[in-house]
Amino acid sequence: MNAVVSSASDSDESTHSASRIDELAQPTHDELARQQFVSMLRKRVMVDMAGKMRQVYDGEVEPAFRAEKGRAPADGREVRRAMLPNPYFKAWSALRYTAQEMTWWSVLPQVERNLPKLVARVQQIGPRNRVGGTLRLDPDVEIPREVSELDIHLMPGCYHTEHGADDVAQGALYTYGTSVFGSGLKLATWRGGVAASIARWLAIAHPELRPLKLLDLGCTTGSNLFPYLEVFPGCEGYGVDIGAPLLRYAHARAETLGHKVHFSQQRAEKLDYPDATFDVVCSSFFLHEIPVKSTRQVLRECYRVLKPGGIMVHMELPPSSETDPYYTFYLDWDAYYNNEPHYAAFRALDLRKEVLAAGFAGDAYFARRIPNYSTVPDEQFEASCRGEIEAPKHGNGASWFIFGARK
Ligand SMILES: C[S@@+](CC[C@H](N)C(=O)[O-])C[C@H]1O[C@@H](n2cnc3c(N)ncnc32)[C@H](O)[C@@H]1O
Repeated sequence: MNAVVSSASDSDESTHSASRIDELAQPTHDELARQQFVSMLRKRVMVDMAGKMRQVYDGEVEPAFRAEKGRAPADGREVRRAMLPNPYFKAWSALRYTAQEMTWWSVLPQVERNLPKLVARVQQIGPRNRVGGTLRLDPDVEIPREVSELDIHLMPGCYHTEHGADDVAQGALYTYGTSVFGSGLKLATWRGGVAASIARWLAIAHPELRPLKLLDLGCTTGSNLFPYLEVFPGCEGYGVDIGAPLLRYAHARAETLGHKVHFSQQRAEKLDYPDATFDVVCSSFFLHEIPVKSTRQVLRECYRVLKPGGIMVHMELPPSSETDPYYTFYLDWDAYYNNEPHYAAFRALDLRKEVLAAGFAGDAYFARRIPNYSTVPDEQFEASCRGEIEAPKHGNGASWFIFGARK
């Protein structure tokens, strides 16, 4: 069976301008079934099998290491060396890699089939949307090697590839793929994920904050930018990325969601905004994908473009200084098998030192975990943001690690 799964907004061309662009490209029955299978496979790998693998480590691998060396593994690399020959790790790792590839494969036919419709929608919107958001592309932007040379997290074509005029394929692929990636876990629900959590934490931790301009670095298709604008009405969004197909798609999403966002294709290491422009500068899942040298430049740019009193906040993987050797090994899997070569080096950084070196004052630095707003009751979320109770342990979207500083 291969019928298109239709929604009310999909059936009438006249309703397209009002419908969310994500809804223009519906999966067929069989595509949806395959996507749901992949989500459940990922859940099996990332939750059930990952839990069992920890037991294998605690019960067999760590005791064998201890018997040989007279001590426990000191860091993630030693755990990795001890785990590499283990049959459970090998099976888990192979399955995780396969599930990652299948994530993208499960949405590629949906993207390809719907591409003309998506491109037509973007062309219809043009560079300015109804609510005043804009799209500024730079065909001369230099695509960094870490993006052009590798398909990061195995996504075919990575963030920048363009297959035709006004292409949005990579934007659609990323948006639908990450939904398959996360929907078996706690990564995305109707209450939103990362930005919905950080924005609410900001509102609780800094009740005086009334941001008028917020910049998201490495914004991809805007999923973790738009929720800030819902929490802070009247705030204008700015999103920077190097991928033109991502930004076209993000701009169309902003149009159909009614958000005023100015998207711009440029490198976060050298922004073209004047000094002291923004009240908040944020990013999510971004810094671990770029070289440490670039991270340092980005932090300096954050300091420069923030207004005095403005806040920089990045959601990231927790640094290895905060995770035990096993969890460091577990998190760093992506550096070896998921085309994310800068992952482990980012996690090894002393973030406080880096933030201070970018110009921020020592007492302005913060680093903490906040709960995923999607997965805990409001009272628990608020108590945790106020520091009255601890956020859940990191992993599979239970909580987010954030760090930053106030200028
Ligand atoms: C993992 S994605 C970020 C995901 C997104 N923030 C979210 O939460 O949905 C990393 C993004 O950074 C962008 N990127 C990579 N290097 C960049 C650079 N030097 N400057 C700006 N954007 C960059 C990529 O194109 C990609 O969209």
